[in-house]
Amino acid sequence: MNDKKKTMLSGIQPSGHLCIGNYLGAIKNWVRLQNDYDGIFIVVDLHAITVRQKPAELRKRCLSFAAQYLACGIDPNESIIFIQSHVPAHAELAWTLNTLAHMGELSRMTQYKDKIKKHQANINVGLFAYPVLMASDILLYQSDLVPVGEDQKQHLELSRELAERFNNAYSPTFKVPEAFIMKQSAGARIRSLQDPTKKMSKSDENPNNYIALLDDPDTILKKFKRAVTDSETEIKYDENRHGVANLLTLYSSLTDSSLSDAEQHFQGIGYAQLKKQVADVTIETLVPIQKRYDELMSEKTELEKILKNGAEEARYRARKTLSKVYRKIGLVGGF
Ligand code: TYM
Repeated sequence: MNDKKKTMLSGIQPSGHLCIGNYLGAIKNWVRLQNDYDGIFIVVDLHAITVRQKPAELRKRCLSFAAQYLACGIDPNESIIFIQSHVPAHAELAWTLNTLAHMGELSRMTQYKDKIKKHQANINVGLFAYPVLMASDILLYQSDLVPVGEDQKQHLELSRELAERFNNAYSPTFKVPEAFIMKQSAGARIRSLQDPTKKMSKSDENPNNYIALLDDPDTILKKFKRAVTDSETEIKYDENRHGVANLLTLYSSLTDSSLSDAEQHFQGIGYAQLKKQVADVTIETLVPIQKRYDELMSEKTELEKILKNGAEEARYRARKTLSKVYRKIGLVGGF
């Protein structure tokens, strides 16, 4: 790894099933940028427990998600991959940043407002403080760039704000990170297949709403066939025709073509063909990923070694920042 490269950091919560929205909004960009940046990619398990998880499933899912990062093309010789809870500094810096974050700004977070509606029986403090933990993930590694989907923009702004607040209160300590978000029409916000007014979510209770990276070809085809469109006939990109716009976005991002090329391609064709062809390019993308994933999961030694090395390197880097922070705020060190 080259120290002169800028640092790119991102993470995904191990909840539900990694989906094509996560791939196009985040992972595909990680892979695309990994040679130009010093990459850090985290399976953020401490975030996932803000919603009640089944312990045995969570344990399996953490490894499965890490294997999917690799299968999508993250190169462990170029980038660091690790599991968040293996690096205690994340929780430690989060606690420190909690003392700088304001109740008001956290209660304005859209994701928090959505989640408390969904999880009425478990509105826990972790759910509220979640964006502070995310800021900790990012700031610990002096990250320059954070490639995420549109829905994380607000959290990222808070990370920037907390970095600046700390730097102003003490002295320059944290790099202020930049977001890297694709245009909406290029995959920043892939929509649900059954309810395209909403974003596609890997934790949706209805699996027909998302395409999981590990869905088999028949399932993918079936899910696209059922995708909601509209009563018009022309295949044209129009933000207000959410279903068709979503299918065109999927097609153009998966084939790395422009939206106007995609529109051209589907001129004079019906919705059934659109769905079939979007399914085909999805299958073409996912089948090789699934093959590599199966290999990684059938013999876990390689995967475990990658995660162990990743955590070691991350612990070393994170500790450097945390020591600096503790010193600046007046905690006694050196024992
Ligand atoms: P999470 O786990 O909800 O989502 C992981 C990534 O996938 C993107 N994404 C989408 N992109 C396009 N269309 C969609 N429908 C879609 N759904 C999800 C998300 O924007 C995200 O990039 N808080 C974060 C995880 C996190 C993190 C971090 C991210 C924790 N620490 C540090 C970056 C840096 C989250 O809940 O993402």
